[in-house]
Amino acid sequence: MAGTDYSSYLRIDELLNLQHPLTEGAHDEMLFVVIHQAYELWFKLILHELDYAVTELEAGRPQGAMAPLHRAVRVDELLIAQLRVLETLTPEGFLEFRDPLKPASGLQSGQFRAIEVLGGFDGATPAGTSPLSDHDQAELRRRAGLPTLYSALCASLRGYGFDAPDGNSAELRERRLDALAALYRDHATPERAVLHRVCELFLDHDEAIARWRFHHTLMAAREIGSRPGTGGGGVAYLDSTIARRFFPELWEVRNRL
Ligand code: HEM
Repeated sequence: MAGTDYSSYLRIDELLNLQHPLTEGAHDEMLFVVIHQAYELWFKLILHELDYAVTELEAGRPQGAMAPLHRAVRVDELLIAQLRVLETLTPEGFLEFRDPLKPASGLQSGQFRAIEVLGGFDGATPAGTSPLSDHDQAELRRRAGLPTLYSALCASLRGYGFDAPDGNSAELRERRLDALAALYRDHATPERAVLHRVCELFLDHDEAIARWRFHHTLMAAREIGSRPGTGGGGVAYLDSTIARRFFPELWEVRNRL
């Protein structure tokens, strides 16, 4: 019977031929390759969902953003859980295959930077580290011209009559915080309940990525101690990223209630 074939539809043969450890005999390198590839696949899905959420919010349909945000947050949780698999790698097992990886590093994950750009960051890699590929840089430049999650949320808030202007000045920020505080104090109507839920899903995403940063930093310290990272940043650099938040105003609004 003709029909769709599992392996050709999902390109399983190609997928299973994409793992090429560099060091012969280093048993644990397969884990290292597979887990990075799995992360990149999940990053792809997160971007797919967050881009859809932005489109819905920009179009004034916050209810349409709820399902993709919910899914993205569930995947964020998987990113954290996967670190436990990586922690089965011992430092001495890692050292067996680590040197030939230099200067490759998660620092050069274009998709991770794209998730950061959607969160409102500039997507820059730290000074002195290897740059992203030309392709990744072009993609980040394209994304830099698009709405972020937060600007799309503000667009939806304005569509429902809230005074949530774009812009970085203290005055504009205060107006947004007043609007958010009003929403958080009263979200009893169906429209306000949806907007409030979207804000909390944003916070779930922000919190999950912050927890991933923290856990990834601990995992890295466990693997390499205070050695320089393969990309040149090391655990000291990772420590400096833990306090990063995508949506500081959604954290600040807690103080205004
Ligand atoms: C043995 C495993 C790992 C170790 C020891 C490790 C260590 C590090 C270190 C030290 C850095 C800072 C840059 C540098 O010095 O290279 C870094 C950055 C990063 N790593 Fe890992 N990592 C590991 C696995 C992973 C995995 C599986 C991912 C998933 C994609 C990942 C994603 C990232 C990302 C996105 C950054 C950039 C973070 C930022 O700039 O905020 N790492 N890693």
